[in-house]
Amino acid sequence: MPTIEMKTELPGPRAREIIARKERVVCDPVDLHVPTVIDHARGAAFTDVDGNTMLDLSGGLGCHLVGFSHPRVVEAVTGQAERFSHTDFSVVPYETYVELAEKLVRLTGGGDRKVALFNAGAEAVENAIKFARSATGRPAVICFEGAFHGRTLLTMSLTSRVHPYKTGFGPFAPEIYRLPYPYPYRSPDPERAGLDAIEAIERAFTTVVDPESVACAIVEPIQGEGGFVVPTAEFLPKLAELCRRHGILVIADEIQSGSGRTGRFLASEHFGFEPDIVILAKALASGYPLSAVVGPAEVMDAPGPSAIGGTYVGNPVACAAANAVLDVIEEEGLLERSEQVGKVIRSRWEEISRDVPEVGDIRGIGAMIGVEMVRDRDSKEPAGEYLSAFMKETQKRGVVTVSCGIYHNVLRHLLPLVITDEQLEEALGVLADSAVAARREAAPVEEGEGE
Ligand SMILES: Cc1ncc(COP(=O)(O)O)c(C=O)c1O
Repeated sequence: MPTIEMKTELPGPRAREIIARKERVVCDPVDLHVPTVIDHARGAAFTDVDGNTMLDLSGGLGCHLVGFSHPRVVEAVTGQAERFSHTDFSVVPYETYVELAEKLVRLTGGGDRKVALFNAGAEAVENAIKFARSATGRPAVICFEGAFHGRTLLTMSLTSRVHPYKTGFGPFAPEIYRLPYPYPYRSPDPERAGLDAIEAIERAFTTVVDPESVACAIVEPIQGEGGFVVPTAEFLPKLAELCRRHGILVIADEIQSGSGRTGRFLASEHFGFEPDIVILAKALASGYPLSAVVGPAEVMDAPGPSAIGGTYVGNPVACAAANAVLDVIEEEGLLERSEQVGKVIRSRWEEISRDVPEVGDIRGIGAMIGVEMVRDRDSKEPAGEYLSAFMKETQKRGVVTVSCGIYHNVLRHLLPLVITDEQLEEALGVLADSAVAARREAAPVEEGEGE
């Protein structure tokens, strides 16, 4: 039995009515990518207010690794909401926070690590920088081209893509130094991409910033918003080595790549990369607002009493969700599932690429697979308009897809790993049909449907 069932065009009549109301009272920059309105969801599928059932390969932009409304998460959340929903952990603490911190220490390598919880990913990034500055007594931060770290002033300053994330929002935070990130597909010498990036940092320590003033380098082990870019193998370990030589802390932003997305709990593990500080969010609590910073005790303990916190941080309902998510990942073998799903997606795109010359590069680790679309495989000119047409075609056929990439031309798969084999096959069939149909329909490029 297929899961997808399209009863109306999108939007259907009821969704159209709600979207019209939205347009009157919700600001325009909060724009909509899928022209429908959800009613309920389970696993990898959701049903809209007009009764259309679709498969979601965006998974709440990477949050629903264990699927929409996993029964274990629902049980944990409702149970916690009944007991109490909020105190402010620093006023009256609760065990779920401590239990989650214990699990995160274990999953990020154990030892003498400590944890602090926050709400959004951006808030955790902000705080990771605070920990690093406090522990080192240094102001500067190194970040990378193509990075996405959030939308608050500091994290927007760390974020690379100018439009739509930065245009008109300056001035930006000072003491941020951006350096090249290895992008093998677009490097003149793909194998040297990582080494070239390391050399650029070494050069910058002479020509741009005194390494003795740098608190930390923040890096996505696999870039998310930047285009699912996988660095060459030596980049991350060499970055860590170089930073350690200068007393610079290394922060891995694993908000998109972590929590099991790539087949290991952290994407860093694939590279033998051992960051000092790890940041998690998104899939960690299945969409409940929760983010985490994990780092060495001496770094995490550096700021003074009450220097770190916030009214809602480490909310007990979100902690209960995260504890359930981590149990589900282990008990349902979702790390192995990530590997299997990734293999199936990759091999289907290899097949599609035989008929669709716009497929320029298929890359990623585990289920974190990106497909870069180009107008021409030799020139590699980005084909954002083709990807835009492709995503419209998949929506019409009942599958939600999302893009990324500095040129808006990379399809990213962030699907729930609890997707069944039949649903995966059904969704990939839609992608294959849409890839061919979009060749006829390619329309002007669209931007910024999320991060
Ligand atoms: C790598 C990375 N860092 C930071 C963020 C910001 O997280 P949030 O949107 O929860 O603030 C995101 C969001 O997509 C992300 O992918």
